[in-house]
Parts: sequence; C-alpha cells; structure tokens
Amino acid sequence: MTSPAAPAAPDLSVSVAGIQLKNPVIAASGTFGYGIEFEDVVHLNKLGGFVVKGLSAQPMAGNPPPRLYETPAGMLNAIGLQNIGARAFVDEKLPKLRQIKNIVVFANVFGYSREDYERTIEILNEGEDIAAYELNVSCPNTVAGGIQFGSDPRALDEVVNTAKRVSRRPLIVKLSPNVTSIALMARVAQEAGADAISLVNTFLAMAIDPETRKPRIANVTAGLSGPAIKPIALRMVYDASRAVNIPVIGMGGISTAADIVEFMLAGASAVQIGTASYWDPVATEKIAGELETWCAERRIPRVAELTGGMVTE
Ligand SMILES: Cc1cc2nc3c(=O)[nH]c(=O)nc-3n(C[C@H](O)[C@H](O)[C@H](O)COP(=O)(O)O)c2cc1C
Repeated sequence: MTSPAAPAAPDLSVSVAGIQLKNPVIAASGTFGYGIEFEDVVHLNKLGGFVVKGLSAQPMAGNPPPRLYETPAGMLNAIGLQNIGARAFVDEKLPKLRQIKNIVVFANVFGYSREDYERTIEILNEGEDIAAYELNVSCPNTVAGGIQFGSDPRALDEVVNTAKRVSRRPLIVKLSPNVTSIALMARVAQEAGADAISLVNTFLAMAIDPETRKPRIANVTAGLSGPAIKPIALRMVYDASRAVNIPVIGMGGISTAADIVEFMLAGASAVQIGTASYWDPVATEKIAGELETWCAERRIPRVAELTGGMVTE
C-alpha cells in the first residue's frame, strides 16, 4: 500500500504595497519594542516583519503608572506612546537592526499635529532599511481641539496627504476603530495616497476597581486589545477591505493560525500580532510556524489565495 505523498511546503509569501514578506505575520507596534529587544527570544528572520514602537520627532516619557490592566480575554493599556524619538531610533537602533539579515522593519509614526508627522518622517527618511512607514492616526490633533486624526475624515485626509508628500517610502495608514464608519475612513486614507491600510488599533475603554472606586489605569481611559476585540476587529477588516482596492493588514486579538486565516478570508493580505506577545513572547514566530502546518494539512499551496476568500453561500 502506498501512503499519500507528504504535502509540499506551502508558499507563505505575501506582498503588501510592493513589499515582499516571507509570510503574512508581522509583530504589531508597541508590543515588540524596537525589535532588538526580541532578538534573543524570537528568530526575527522567521517573521514576515515587525513594526517598531510608535516614533515621534522628540522623545516622550509616556503616562504615569498603572498603565496596563488585564481584562477577561483582553488587556487595557495607556502607555502614552513612550519612545526614544525618531533621531535616536535612526542613530542607535537602526544600525543594530541593519546587522540582522533577512528582516523587514516597519516604522510606526505618530504626532499631535501635521507638522509633527512631517518632522518625524523627515528624520526617518535619513535612515536606511526601513520597508515602509505605518502612520498611527489614533492620536488627538492638539492643534484642532483634540479630536483624533483617525476619527475625523478631514483631519485624516490632511495628515495622510502631508505624510505622503514627505515620505520616501510606502505609506501604511493604521486606522482607528473608534469611528462609526470604518469604510469611510478606509476610503479617505486611500484617496489621500495610502499605499495600504492596517487596522485595528485599540478600542477606547476603561475599568474601575469597585472597592477603591479608582480607575484601574492612571490615565482613566485606555485602549483595549487582545482576543476580546477579535470579532469586532474582523468585522472592521471585512468592511474596510470591501471599501478599498489597496492591501489591508488586519489585526486585533490574533492568537492562533486559524485566527490569521479568518482575517485573510475577511480580506487581509497580511496580519499583525500584538497582545499575544505579552503572554507568550515567542507567539509571533510560533503562530507563523502553525500557519505553515495549517496550510500544509489542508493542501493549500499558497497562503495569499486566502485573501478575500470568505464563502457566503
Ligand atoms: C501595550 C501596547 C502598546 C501599543 N502601542 C502602539 C503604538 O505605539 N502604535 C500603534 O500604532 N499601536 C500601538 N498599539 C496597538 C497594537 O499595535 C494593535 O493595533 C492592537 O493592540 C490590536 O492588536 P492585538 O489585539 O493583537 O494586540 C499598542 C498596543 C499595546 C497592547
């Protein structure tokens, strides 16, 4: 009796905004430091790529503690975008990252005015070996009364236009989920020049200690991430991908290979994994390995063919 031939290794490669990734798994911003910190824990070259912590033109200290709180199947955070600043990233972190072969580095950028974004991108433009910029628009526009860039179509249009004008790299716009119509925001980002969109960032949320009556997070409100948000994130990725024809990077609560497949079937070309790295620092690499097995067992030759492949009848 002949046993069935072992399935051939599936092709896990995907392409996003002209960037070739060896697999669709990207470590999400704010959960993977500047990458270097994970070098001894994760084989960085086994990931599709990683997004570094959000960078601003000036270094920032972040919010006072407590800044993290675990909720059922999720996590609240109000880190406050603490970072070393774009200049220190270019001068100190990038040279170390450049010594590691075969990795793809994305730089996440944020600001509180259009000029902030512009200045940060100009500094990052001086660095080498950054694949693309990911624009975090879930920040208050302090010049325009504090509404989030990503919650106001006009502000989103302006900030993406500004970033596109100064950027010498592909631009991924990371949408805020704290909106009524994600499809509208996705379209605005595309029309303003985004080469891809990524979503979702964290959901505005909070928790109170009923005994002390104090907020669990010093900042009072925080961002919710992790498996608790996955079904909502998936719906938003689905809505956004149907609204645009640029690639979509999906995220929100991914912790298994099957979760990745769900996001790809909903329309994502690649995914990011954030909170899972908090309970298992090796999660990104492990889940990328599981994805290969998942596809091999089902004889799926190319993972890219899953994108948008949901069957409705
Ligand atoms: C502690 C923490 C810090 C984060 N910092 C950033 C950041 O600097 N920039 C950004 O765009 N997103 C940031 N995020 C959002 C994540 O990149 C991701 O969009 C979100 O957590 C949803 O994915 P997940 O459920 O897999 O964590 C942060 C998330 C967490 C949990």
